[in-house]
Amino acid sequence: MYRIIKKEILNPDVELMVVHAPYVARKCEPGQFIILRVDEDGERIPLTIADYDRKKETVTIIYQVVGYSTKKLSNKNEGDFINDFVGPLGQPAPIHKVKRVLGIGGGVGIAPLYPQMKKMKDLGVQVDVLLGGRTNKHIIMENMFEEFVDNIYYATNDGSKGIKGFVTDKLLELLENGEKYDLVVAIGPLVMMKAIVNITKENNIKTNVSLNPIMIDGTGMCGGCRVTVGGETKFACVDGPDFDGFLVDFDECMQRQSMYKEEEEHICRIGIG
Ligand code: FES
Repeated sequence: MYRIIKKEILNPDVELMVVHAPYVARKCEPGQFIILRVDEDGERIPLTIADYDRKKETVTIIYQVVGYSTKKLSNKNEGDFINDFVGPLGQPAPIHKVKRVLGIGGGVGIAPLYPQMKKMKDLGVQVDVLLGGRTNKHIIMENMFEEFVDNIYYATNDGSKGIKGFVTDKLLELLENGEKYDLVVAIGPLVMMKAIVNITKENNIKTNVSLNPIMIDGTGMCGGCRVTVGGETKFACVDGPDFDGFLVDFDECMQRQSMYKEEEEHICRIGIG
């Protein structure tokens, strides 16, 4: 059993939990994920690690309350226990020292971006980040990023924080203004990552993306996260979740992601899972 040390509501849809999980905290690296089950009958939920503290033996997860199982998780409070908390799983993100990186996070994708950018800063990389969301309420963790990044930019659909528009609009503006990056790391909805890759490809900026949005059970068995990368079949939960964005077949990913939508909605309506 894993004790919830801290719970924080980040916005009406997104919550943060700090969980006492000594083994995971000792071993995990940015990019990896855990699988939890809220209780014995619970569904497996794969969640990317948003932060970790090896000394305190804690792991931070951030989740969107969207379905039956995440609602069940959301009903837990500080001091309560989570039945299973297994990890670290997946491959660590490919983090190398470059001169300057731009991290782009959209919605809950901001969470897995955080440990990657923090580690790059520790390596001496100049780190800029661009965070996007529907409104200012949907931008999370900005205070945590502001503590270490060199520049931080925002884009919101309604203009309530940063520019009014998408992260791609701001990315284009930065590039047009002559900003130079050796690497872009983009994490967020597939449609966002695809649009970013279209821009960075044209500008010849290497781009890593995270395919955690397409993971279902996270065990390598359901096949739900199968994806074509560079013409080869990969599993996001085993071979990733981070991949070279130029090689990912995003259209196939988007099709696969929508495959279980009807079933998920049905389970939410009738309340089983
Ligand atoms: Fe099921 Fe990867 S999420 S095989």
